Parts: sequence; structure tokens; C-alpha cells
Amino acid sequence: MMFKLFNTKEDLEKMLQNNEPRLVIAGNKNICVVRQGERLIAFENECPHMKEGLSGGLVNYLNEIVCPLHTYKFNLITGVEEKQRCAPLTFIEVKHSEEGIFLNLAK
Ligand code: FES
Repeated sequence: MMFKLFNTKEDLEKMLQNNEPRLVIAGNKNICVVRQGERLIAFENECPHMKEGLSGGLVNYLNEIVCPLHTYKFNLITGVEEKQRCAPLTFIEVKHSEEGIFLNLAK
């Protein structure tokens, strides 16, 4: 299922601050989204360690999202935790098209 998040990239830029994680509830999934310029990164909100909400964390200068509970750090490109202490992030595919910006919730 494709879940429409924004109509245009202007909306995306207006509504999400750069590198500020936000929670999106799409279908029955809690998803954390992070905007980086025109790019949107999306992944399951539950921390792979002990399920804390990653949208309450922050993005550091190494392009990692830092979980607010035990400060594990997940790379926003690979999803891998800094010291591989737990599973990586589960990314959600983001599709940009003329109709808008969508999350692919197929999986
Ligand atoms: S729950 Fe996220 S680091 Fe422990």
C-alpha cells in the first residue's frame, strides 16, 4: 500500500525541519521520518534495541539517529547500529512522483 505523505516537495520542506525526526502514523505503522534537503528517509519508529520511539531522538553530526533511551546510534544510510549491538533500522521505501511523496507500506 502506498501512503501519501506530501503533495509536493515544497510541502515536505515547509512541514519538516531538516534533520528533525518526526513520527508519522501510516496505516497501522509508526514510522519515523527525517528530511535531509529534498530527500526523505523513513524507517520503523520502534528502536531495534528495546522499542523506544526513535522519533524522540535526534540526528547527530555523523548522520546517525540517536535513540533517546540508551543512546544507541543508527546510521541513516545503512541503518546499522554504531557498535552493532542490535539489529539495524528497518527502512521504509520513499517514492517521489508527480502526484506526491509516498511511503511504500507493502512490506
Ligand atoms: S531502546 Fe533504543 S537504544 Fe535502547
